Amino acid sequence: MASLRTEVSFQRCISPRCGATFDVCEVHTACPHCGGLLDVDYDWDRAAVPGSLREFEQRWADRRDPLNFSGVWRFRELLPFAPPQSVVTIGEGQTILQPNEAVGRYVGTRRLYLQYEGLNPSGSFKDNGMTAASTHARMIGARLAACASTGNTSASLAIFASTTRLFRVVVFVGSGRIAFGKLSQALDYGALTLQIEGDFDDALARVREVCRRERIYLCNSVNPFRLEGQKATVYRILEGLNWQPPDWIVVPGGNLGNSSAFGKALIELKRLQLIDRLPRLAVINAAGAATLFDLYETHGVRWNGGNCDQHRIAAYFEEMDRQGRRARTLASAIEINRPVNLLKCLRALEACDGVVRTVTDEEILDAKACVGAGGFGCEPASAAAVAGARRLRSEGVIAAEDSVVCVLTGHQLKDPQATVAYHSSAPDAIDPALAGRGIRRVGHPNRPVTVPNDLEAILAALTRFAPDA
Ligand code: F0G
Repeated sequence: MASLRTEVSFQRCISPRCGATFDVCEVHTACPHCGGLLDVDYDWDRAAVPGSLREFEQRWADRRDPLNFSGVWRFRELLPFAPPQSVVTIGEGQTILQPNEAVGRYVGTRRLYLQYEGLNPSGSFKDNGMTAASTHARMIGARLAACASTGNTSASLAIFASTTRLFRVVVFVGSGRIAFGKLSQALDYGALTLQIEGDFDDALARVREVCRRERIYLCNSVNPFRLEGQKATVYRILEGLNWQPPDWIVVPGGNLGNSSAFGKALIELKRLQLIDRLPRLAVINAAGAATLFDLYETHGVRWNGGNCDQHRIAAYFEEMDRQGRRARTLASAIEINRPVNLLKCLRALEACDGVVRTVTDEEILDAKACVGAGGFGCEPASAAAVAGARRLRSEGVIAAEDSVVCVLTGHQLKDPQATVAYHSSAPDAIDPALAGRGIRRVGHPNRPVTVPNDLEAILAALTRFAPDA
C-alpha cells in the first residue's frame, strides 16, 4: 500500500490484516477501520537517510541551530514526518549515557551503563515524545491538547505548552496517585489539572472520550507521532556507545510506549542497515502492575507476526475486571492495568528477542538507593530497570560479560517522598497500604541524623561519619 503513496511519511495501522494508511495531517489515535494502533511509517527509499549513523556527529558542530541542539531532531532523518519550520523544540534530549561501576557491581555486570533521561527539561523521558507530538499538533493547528497521566506525561505536555505558548493544555490525573514533584509541575506550568476519582486507567479512558467529543489533540502514547520522538533515546544510546549496539537495553514498562518506540527504532535501523544486530530488550514491570509479564511470560502471548492471540488477551482483562484487580505499586509512574501499547510492545519483544520480568517494590527502592548513591539518581519507576537487570543477571539470562544499558526514565526529585521514606524507614509514609509491611533493605539506607544545636555534638557526629578524615 505504501508504494501507492506520494508522501515520504504516512500513518499505518499495525495490524497486518488491516494495514490501512492515512495522511500525516490526519489526527487519529486508533485506526478508523479496525480500531488498531497506528504507526508513523515512511517510504524509506525516498527518504534522505544517511549512509552511516556516524554522519549525525556533524550536527554537534552547529549546535546553535535548535534542531541540531535537540537530542531528538538532530536525528531528524530518522523521523522525517515534519517540515523543519513546524518543529517544536525546547532543548529536549540533552541526556547522557554513563558507565557506572557501583551500579554494575549491584547488578553483577562489569559493563553497566545508565541512560539518564531524567535530565530532560521536565525531568523525564516524556520530553523526547512530547517534542514530536507538539510538532504534529502545530502541523495540524491544534489549540488545545490533553493527556491522562501518572504525572510525567502531564508535566511534559504542560512544559511544552508553557514554553511555546502554541496551545493550551488540560491534564487528567488519578486522584492521589501522582507524586507531588510531578503534580507541582503541571500546576506551575499552568495546565488545567483535573483530578479524576480513580486511577490512571480511569483517567485515560475519560480523556480519550473527551478528546473524541471535543476534538482536543490527545498526547498520550496512542498518539503515534509522540512515539516517533521516543525513538531518539535509542539513537543517543548508540551514540554513547560509538554506534555499537549494547547486548541489552532494560527499560521499565507501564503503558509500554517507550519499549514500543525502542523496538520500532531498532527494527528501522536494522532495516536501513545502520546497525548490524539488534540488542535484546528487557521490559520490567512492577510486581503489583504486571499485565505484560502475565501475558508474555505466564500465558505465552506473542506478537506472532501480527497474529497474536487476542482472545487470550481479552480473557485476561475480563478476569482482571471480574476479580476487581487493580494495579498497586510504589512506583506510581508504572501503576497501570491495561497498557495501551501492548501489541506494539509485543512486536518489539519479538524483534529484539525480549524478556519481561517483575520486581517488587522493595527491590525497586533498593535499586533506586543504589543508583542515587552512585550518580544522579532517579525516581522509583526508573529504578525498576536496574532491579530488573539485577534479577536477570542472577537468573543467568544476562551474562557477566554482557553490556547492559538501563534507561533511567525520570529524575530523582520527581518523588522525594519515596526517597525520604526509604532512608528514614517509614514506608507507610509513601503508601499507607504498606503500613506495618516493612521494607527489607539490602542496599543503602542513609538515615538523617538528628543532633542538638551544639558544636561538640555536631563534631561528634562528623567523627562518627568519617573517623579517618
Ligand atoms: N518511567 C517513568 C518515570 C514514567 O513516567 C513512565 C510512564 C514509565 C517509566 C513507563 O513508560 O508508559 O512508556 O511504558 N509514565 C506515564 C505518565 C504513564 O503518565 O507519565 P511507558
